Amino acid sequence: MAIIAIANQKGGVGKTTTAINLSAAFARKKKRTLLIDLDPQANSTLTFLPLEEVPHSLYDVLADHQLTLSEVVKPTKTPNLCVGPSKIALAKLEATLVGQFDAPYRLKDALATVRNDFDIIIIDTPPTLGIMTVNALVAATHLLIPIQASYYALEGTDDLLETLERIRQRPNPTLELLGVVITLFDKRTNLARDIRKNVCQVFGDRVFKTVIGKNVRLEESPAYRETIFDYAPDSSGASEYERLAKEVLKRVA
Ligand SMILES: Nc1ncnc2c1ncn2[C@@H]1O[C@H](COP(=O)(O)OP(=O)(O)OP(=O)(O)O)[C@@H](O)[C@H]1O
Ligand SMILES: [Mg+2]
Repeated sequence: MAIIAIANQKGGVGKTTTAINLSAAFARKKKRTLLIDLDPQANSTLTFLPLEEVPHSLYDVLADHQLTLSEVVKPTKTPNLCVGPSKIALAKLEATLVGQFDAPYRLKDALATVRNDFDIIIIDTPPTLGIMTVNALVAATHLLIPIQASYYALEGTDDLLETLERIRQRPNPTLELLGVVITLFDKRTNLARDIRKNVCQVFGDRVFKTVIGKNVRLEESPAYRETIFDYAPDSSGASEYERLAKEVLKRVA
């Protein structure tokens, strides 16, 4: 079973957009999919669930084991897709877990209790390399890095790769770099094409063939609380995330 952490400590590179729409693409392929939202901003969660339907969050599972993961996981209106919800309370987790010997393992332990209920798990992470992202990387089988096609695209990837190596040394030796997806790509500019070349030089065959272009529909869809497949099924964003999902499934098979 694949558990894919989507991480990049750079903000606004398309982590959440990728988490939402890849999860939806997998669910449409009849994969029983769980989207775990580890970002206190809760953008993934709120795309699928109104706040009033989220009485509890992963905080209650990860902080003090008040609830089990299956007690907080919620089905969404997308068949085969469930969400492990975040709330702003998750922002307290870092402080709550300070000094706890098992702090990095909390999510891994929680996911072990629902493994048989899902075929694939996607984890959305916040733009930090803090305890939430570490929990995601310890629990995951694969890391997927979205990189924004901007001038500073590769800034910070050294730190992320160093974190990947540290986690591989001890808590999770089998964690694989699944791939790098270039996002927010503007094919009209030479700059975007140069950046793509640079990213390919660093990451080689790990770069997915599918590139996610800049697409207004992708930007609008969360505001309407819909995935791209419901909001604009004929958009380039929908077909690109559909193609990315196929590439991902081939690599995790
Ligand atoms: N391909 C795209 N085309 C147009 N807009 C996009 C695209 N991908 C993401 N966006 C928009 O860019 C912004 C940042 O995207 P997103 O929230 O997915 O990034 P993030 O990496 O999760 O950010 P954060 O680090 O804050 O969690 C959002 O407003 C989103 O709607
Ligand atoms: Mg996000």
